[in-house]
Amino acid sequence: MKVLIVGATSGLGLALAQHYLQKGDEVAVCGRDLKRIPQELQKRYTQLRMYRLDIADKQTLVEILEDFANPVLDLVIVTAGLYFNTRKHQLDEAMTLRMLQTNVSGLNHVFELAAKKMLTQKSGHLVAISSVAGLLRDYPGASLYSATKRSVLNLCETYRIALKPFSIAVTAVVPGYIDTEKLRTLNNGDASQKPFILSETQAVHRITKAVAQRKAVLIFPWQMRGLIAVLNCLPSWLLALHK
Ligand SMILES: NC(=O)c1ccc[n+]([C@@H]2O[C@H](COP(=O)([O-])OP(=O)(O)OC[C@H]3O[C@@H](n4cnc5c(N)ncnc54)[C@H](OP(=O)(O)O)[C@@H]3O)[C@@H](O)[C@H]2O)c1
Repeated sequence: MKVLIVGATSGLGLALAQHYLQKGDEVAVCGRDLKRIPQELQKRYTQLRMYRLDIADKQTLVEILEDFANPVLDLVIVTAGLYFNTRKHQLDEAMTLRMLQTNVSGLNHVFELAAKKMLTQKSGHLVAISSVAGLLRDYPGASLYSATKRSVLNLCETYRIALKPFSIAVTAVVPGYIDTEKLRTLNNGDASQKPFILSETQAVHRITKAVAQRKAVLIFPWQMRGLIAVLNCLPSWLLALHK
């Protein structure tokens, strides 16, 4: 199988790349900083391909697909995403635009170009990583991150409806907390206090199982789904207090 993962130089994307490499798949790993990919991985798996890519750069994406997606492209996973500790981090104009370009329009670029290729094959599978934050309804003072992850869910639904007649599946992955290096860094090196947090290995197991089953939406863990459902019942002013 030929698997392209956008946003796989670290964290969840890198862990997913390792899973598919271990299975023997041909995996293309994309990101802005390829030096983050461990040397031992590059030595162990000769079928690993690496491409420097900023997801906002559509032209480079075209070139990567021309190079890698031959003769087929089976699976595309978009894990690239920007997030911050919104209690500590005030977004300025530049970072606001960056988050929109990465989490929303960048994802759309990848889906659009990969779908173009998959439509010629009449097969394939697109996957995007949203977040349970994207299930949270809008309220005064809500985070941009939540809104972008809600957009990820909407984009997945739109592409799923459009591509279903052509045997192309679309999966939206909606995780709660995953104990990645990025999350730990945002939490002074220890994210274990986050509710219902899962390890990267647990997350990869659930995601790859859902992908194999060509599920439309995977929300996990169920406790976070329940928590968000409760939060969505609260009045807006109370939600705003817990920002
Ligand atoms: N960890 C969690 O608790 C959690 C929970 C829910 C959802 N998620 C979502 O899961 C995804 C992965 O999160 P993570 O914790 O694994 O974070 P991470 O380690 O920061 O992973 C993000 C990846 O995206 C890449 N990336 C960022 N901006 C990019 C750009 N402009 N172009 C191309 N690649 C870009 C980064 O690589 P470069 O810096 O090399 O470009 C990195 O490989 C994100 O979408 C996040 O929103 C995470």
